[in-house]
Amino acid sequence: MNFKKLTLALCLSACATQMACADVTGSTAKAQTVAPKLVQTAVPLSFSAAPFGKLPTGEATTVYTLTNANGVVVKATNYGGVLTSILTPDRNGKLGDIILGFDNVEDYVKYKSYFGALIGRYGNRIGKGQFTLDGKSYQLDLNDKGNHLHGGSKGFWSVLWDVKPFKTETSVGLTLTHTSPDGDQGYPGNLKVTVVYELTNTDEFFIRYSATTDKPTPVNMTQHPYFNLAGSGEILNQELMINASRYTPVDGGLIPTGELAAVAGTVFDFSTSHTIGKMIGQPNEQLKNGGGYDHNWVLNKKATNEWGLDARFYDPASGRVLDVSSDQPGIQFYSGNFLDGKITGKGVNFVYRGAICLEPQHFPDSPNKSNFPTTILKPGEVYAAKIGYKFDVKK
Ligand code: GLA
Repeated sequence: MNFKKLTLALCLSACATQMACADVTGSTAKAQTVAPKLVQTAVPLSFSAAPFGKLPTGEATTVYTLTNANGVVVKATNYGGVLTSILTPDRNGKLGDIILGFDNVEDYVKYKSYFGALIGRYGNRIGKGQFTLDGKSYQLDLNDKGNHLHGGSKGFWSVLWDVKPFKTETSVGLTLTHTSPDGDQGYPGNLKVTVVYELTNTDEFFIRYSATTDKPTPVNMTQHPYFNLAGSGEILNQELMINASRYTPVDGGLIPTGELAAVAGTVFDFSTSHTIGKMIGQPNEQLKNGGGYDHNWVLNKKATNEWGLDARFYDPASGRVLDVSSDQPGIQFYSGNFLDGKITGKGVNFVYRGAICLEPQHFPDSPNKSNFPTTILKPGEVYAAKIGYKFDVKK
């Protein structure tokens, strides 16, 4: 369902306040037939921009608000391409923010942790930050206990993107562009990146990444929202399905061992939906390595770039459902193990396991694993990746 109830509620309240209902003050049947037209009048597909605070360099940042015809809202800032809020209705039509974050850029700079951020050049870890390409060795920035994480300490999540809004008949969005220079964070090649955020009237939010390079280089982009479909509190009673029969076990530094292990009969089996808390407390070497779930699942796809449903996240209390789809071969599921209640943002305390990240991407450490699908982009090629979030409710 597409939040028709919420739409109707918003429509009715707009009617009440704006007295714009002249053409529906007839029979109920007449009101029903004209409802779709009214929806657009009451909740127009819209775009707005507002100041979001200043970076330590003094540069001003902006937050953009995208609203679809059903009242679903996605907010994003040009700092790190961060998604700062996603407002969706619960089963009673009440809007709530389903991602952790802040209401000013200063807090994003202060707390890091990739809240909502656009991740690149490489999502997740590259062991010791090293790889060899065409006989040459590269050393990347080490920002995670001797490893390279999420593109480095000045990765795409912390740069100022150029942003241009756009609107179609059925969607509203932003086009973000950035050029990462040769040598940035240790990576070879000038990488020109374009990312498109698009919120549709079918309650879907799409992210399309593309990039070109002038030297061979690894590229693996993704998005890092911390989802909590209840808006706050721990997520252990929320339910997850991951469309995967295998995952990539890791060592103590969260670097894949290279093995593709079956999830069947283990705590990693999310092939049918169950609560996140169901097995997270069990004694298990891999859970110990991750401090909980912090692993890459190998999606059940016939081709590396096949589009499909990766994961379904559901909150029985609010009724909210989030479908995550992509054309990526893997998805990182991180169960908020590093959250510790020391940070508060948008009025919500970030409690231990108070959100999850579902990051469709190539497998971590692929540049050092010849059995993993390649992440090397060559000059003349175009890197392309797509993620879709579909917001829904279950009665
Ligand atoms: C990813 C990683 C986690 C952690 C979070 C950010 O999802 O896999 O280990 O670093 O980002 O805290």
